[in-house]
Amino acid sequence: MTVPLRAVARRFPGIETMEGAGVRLRRMFGNRQVPLFDPYLLLDDFGSSNPEDYLAGFPWHPHRGIETVTYMLEGEVAHGDTLGNSGTIGPGDVQWMTAGSGIIHQEMPRRSDGRLSGFQLWVNLPAKEKMAQPAYRGLSGAEIPSVPLEHGGSVRVIAGTFDRVAGPVRGLSVDPTYLDIRLPSHESIELGTPRGHTAFAQVVSGSGAFDTTSGPPARPGETLLYGPGERARIASADEPLRFLWVTGRPLGEPVAWYGPIVMNRPEELREAARELQNGQFIHHRAPILEE
Ligand code: FE2
Repeated sequence: MTVPLRAVARRFPGIETMEGAGVRLRRMFGNRQVPLFDPYLLLDDFGSSNPEDYLAGFPWHPHRGIETVTYMLEGEVAHGDTLGNSGTIGPGDVQWMTAGSGIIHQEMPRRSDGRLSGFQLWVNLPAKEKMAQPAYRGLSGAEIPSVPLEHGGSVRVIAGTFDRVAGPVRGLSVDPTYLDIRLPSHESIELGTPRGHTAFAQVVSGSGAFDTTSGPPARPGETLLYGPGERARIASADEPLRFLWVTGRPLGEPVAWYGPIVMNRPEELREAARELQNGQFIHHRAPILEE
C-alpha cells in the first residue's frame, strides 16, 4: 500500500509588518491564521541589509504560554532575560525559549555590515504547560547535526529526526520537527511526516516544486502549508533550493491571544495584564536548562 502523499493546501506570501520598537519584517502567518498551523502560532521572516530596518530591536517585553524559536542565518541578535540568560545568537545558532508561566526578555539585533536574516517561530504550549516553569535552550551551530544527502546538499536537524539523526531539542509535547534543508539543483527529497501532524515549508532561497501537482514553483519567502498525508516530495529546479521544514502535533485547544501572550481563555489574558501591572508577572526564576 502506498503512503498518501501530501499536497500543498495553501501558500502564504507574507505581509510586511512593523514589530518591537520598529523592526521591519515579514509576517508569514500569525493570529489571523489560527488554527491553520496548530500547534504553531506565528512565523516572522526578518531579513535586511539596512540597519535602520532592525536596529530598534525588541526591547524588554513579556511572553507567556508559548515557546519562541529564533534561528539566525546571518548577523547577530543580543538577548537577555529574567531567567538570567544573556548572550548572542549568531549565524547558524538557535534559541529555543519556553516562556511557560512567563519571562521578560529583550532581543536586540546588532549592526551588521552585511545582511541580517533569521526566523522567529512561535510554538503553542498545551493548556497544562502554559503556567509551567520556563526553560531555555541556547544552541550554537556546532550543536546542531548536519546530515549530508547522497547527491549533495544537507539537512540540519534542530528538532525531530532525519535519517535516524535526532536534533538537540527533544521531549516537547507537540513533538516538533524543525529541519533546514539544502538541495542541489535538479534533486528531490522525500520527507515522512507523522499522520495528523501539521506540516509546512518556508522557502529560504532558490525555487522548487513542493508537491507533485502542477502549481507554479514556490519562490523565496513563501510559506507552504500542507494538506493531509504521511510524506511529502520536494524537488529543486535550475538552482539549489534551501527551505525550512516544520511539523508538529496539533493541540486542538482554544486560543486566546494578546500580543506576546497566548493562553486558552480571555480571563487568563486579563490575569496576565493584571500581573504585569502589579509586578507579579514572573512566577518562576529558573536556571539555564543545559541540554
Ligand atoms: Fe520576544
